[in-house]
Amino acid sequence: MCGIVGYIGKKDVKSVLLTGLKALEYRGYDSAGIALRNDEEIQIIKSVGRIKNLEEKLTKTKIIKATSGIAHTRWATHGKANETNAHPHQVGKITLVHNGIIENMDELKTRLIKKGYSFKTETDTEVVAALIDSYLNGDILKAIKKATNDITGSYALGIISETDKDHIYAIRKDSPLLLGLKADENFFASDLTALTDYTDKFIFLEEGEIAKLSSNQIVIYDSNLKPIKKEIKTIKLDEKDKGKQGYEHFMLKEIMEEPIVLEKTIKKYLENPDLLPDLSSYKQIHIVACGSAMYAGLIAKYLIEKYASIPCQAEVASEYRYKNNIYDRKTLVILISQSGETADTIAAMREAKKRGITTMAIVNVKTSTIAREADIPLFIEAGPEIAVATTKAYLLQVALISLIAFNLSKHNLKEPDKIIEDFKKVPRLVKEIIDKRENYQDIAKQIYQNENAFFIGRQIDYAICQEGSLKLKEVSYIHCEAKEAGELKHGTISLITKDMPVFGIITDENLRDKTLANIKEVESRGAKTFIITTDKLKTSENDITVKATSPFTETLEVVPILQLIAYETAKLRGCDIDKPKNLAKSVTVE
Ligand code: F6R
Repeated sequence: MCGIVGYIGKKDVKSVLLTGLKALEYRGYDSAGIALRNDEEIQIIKSVGRIKNLEEKLTKTKIIKATSGIAHTRWATHGKANETNAHPHQVGKITLVHNGIIENMDELKTRLIKKGYSFKTETDTEVVAALIDSYLNGDILKAIKKATNDITGSYALGIISETDKDHIYAIRKDSPLLLGLKADENFFASDLTALTDYTDKFIFLEEGEIAKLSSNQIVIYDSNLKPIKKEIKTIKLDEKDKGKQGYEHFMLKEIMEEPIVLEKTIKKYLENPDLLPDLSSYKQIHIVACGSAMYAGLIAKYLIEKYASIPCQAEVASEYRYKNNIYDRKTLVILISQSGETADTIAAMREAKKRGITTMAIVNVKTSTIAREADIPLFIEAGPEIAVATTKAYLLQVALISLIAFNLSKHNLKEPDKIIEDFKKVPRLVKEIIDKRENYQDIAKQIYQNENAFFIGRQIDYAICQEGSLKLKEVSYIHCEAKEAGELKHGTISLITKDMPVFGIITDENLRDKTLANIKEVESRGAKTFIITTDKLKTSENDITVKATSPFTETLEVVPILQLIAYETAKLRGCDIDKPKNLAKSVTVE
């Protein structure tokens, strides 16, 4: 959430910052701004809306010849998305950009007003700028340190100070920030995708560390302001991971990559079984995540309870972290997160660790906070996911957690080898499914003018419905609800009107007829129904079918269908598919 870039060096500072901002736009896109600095002055330019608006404004503005600069793309937390609230913020001698939330902003603001500061914006960021300025007494490092000591909350800060024209500064706590290195120029950014055009050498800042960057040196200080040595990592981005590769949207590109990344992830764990730890000693499992990642966990809950007979709950992290969780020594907490930076999931992980509980994480970004802090990090191989709505990463989360569920259940299953074969063939089946794009375009044509839709299913199919519903609502803005099929009659069915789309998902053989009966009930009330099922459980010629495999793999076949229906529907509705309104990809604030 919010993207930060900083640069110091001989290149055109504005261009480097804009390139970085464009790569980070998925993190927030309601306003943007840059601060350019040379020995004489600091020039700040901001604009509301997308980076392209800022870019346009910059072409119409006389730009100073800068030697360094900081930039920001915003996802508003405090204050409206307008130019005043856009970053960078400048108070006294300090100019800065910020990602995170300052929880004690009101208290700090009152204190600073008493000291004579006044504020022009509604943001918490301006308060941080004033706070650092208030401590500035020659030594900017000490001022940053003192100010951050006073702050409760999360922050990644990129700072320039008028007292030190040769450096830019960066610090983080509970928000990601990394440094990029190159001869005669240095960078910082929220995410390495902002810098991969310029360097493949990175340093990851830990909590509380302060980085001081000049064009030819980076010095990192620990929380006692003692210089420390940090490992430099070389990370190269695959060419195919750069840009849209000819696709109209990242979402489509990422769905089309599913067969390849699915094969890579499944192969990795089937061919190296030691990568999956033996979890048989755990007597209960809590799966904790947010949004789609939580729905991946919900699929596993049904599999683990049904086939491994281990009590398993899947919960949203924002609730879990504040609950009285009942643990015993045999509890395992599994976190699922594409970014590995989701604030609530991190907090839930830390809470469990504090209570002495083993944490295992399924993560995509290998350098992320969750990957670094979980006791057992396991990685999916999705590569960078840029579209705000997750597709390929979600599918791989489901694949890996289903493999884990299968491992836990193996001893109870009649033909485990057959299921392994299903895992091996599912990438090919997914390829066949996504190749039938015209089928999903046809469904999209039938639903795109509706404003409401339902997804119904039972047990594991209900978990799939949750993701189908989330995907459709977030990219097409059609209001959707996922409902347990049997629960519909207890109130919700009153909302069914003529021609309302209802998607019924049926992969569970034992519940086929029950769900089908519920589908008939909504049909009788005028709903336009779409049944997604297996060739084995097919109910009519109109059904959308996938190959019957095992319960551990059928979900992997159904999900791409729902993703493509959401994509095609959003396209017909003219939505901004890769950057839906109000959203941001990496939710690094609570
Ligand atoms: C929906 C979506 C979100 C994320 C959620 C968790 O398409 O992308 O619901 O799944 O914000 O994000 P991660 O997996 O990064 O923790």
